[in-house]
Amino acid sequence: MKSVSVRPATLADADAIAAFNLAMAQETEGKALDPELLGRGVRAVFAEPARGAYFVAELAPEPADGAARVVGCLLVTREWSDWRNGDFWWIQSVYTAPDARGRGVYTALHTHVVTAARESGAVGVRLYVEPHNARAISTYQHRGMTKTYDVMETPFTRW
Ligand SMILES: CC(C)(COP(=O)(O)OP(=O)(O)OC[C@H]1O[C@@H](n2cnc3c(N)ncnc32)[C@H](O)[C@@H]1OP(=O)(O)O)[C@@H](O)C(=O)NCCC(=O)NCCS
Repeated sequence: MKSVSVRPATLADADAIAAFNLAMAQETEGKALDPELLGRGVRAVFAEPARGAYFVAELAPEPADGAARVVGCLLVTREWSDWRNGDFWWIQSVYTAPDARGRGVYTALHTHVVTAARESGAVGVRLYVEPHNARAISTYQHRGMTKTYDVMETPFTRW
């Protein structure tokens, strides 16, 4: 099995991240995102780091001197918790390329982010997931996450 490594994303990864998000919205929610709007939304994170940070996972190249392939991503944003006087790190925009699934790509991303969150003094890690996305829910449960709140919203735009 090829080894998985995780690193902070750079602007050079923006197109790959946007493509992953496009595929993820279609696969998990049957939504066709506007690629131009999505592209600007991804780049806005790199333009203003206070908005969040992307991480990407790569599979080691084969042969060893080849190029590593970006096969997964997630976005981290923060939510202040006055109850705990600290930040929750939110995991968003989770995607693993279909041909790389079941090899620990998400697990590597998750472990990396949980470790970084603990080291930064965060009070926990949260995410929201579509209730019908059984594989993702099971993946998160197997990483030790439990269901707490339901999400409610009043959207002001289409998505
Ligand atoms: C959910 C998802 C991110 C998991 O990513 P992944 O890189 O395959 O996850 P991992 O390899 O770390 O494995 C997760 C678990 O699912 C299993 N699994 C996931 N995909 C699998 C596949 N295609 N074949 C076999 N097993 C698979 C793994 O065996 C593993 O089991 P475990 O939890 O008992 O350890 C990925 O399936 C995905 O991108 N789905 C579409 C987008 C999505 O649902 N995003 C989340 C929105 S909230």
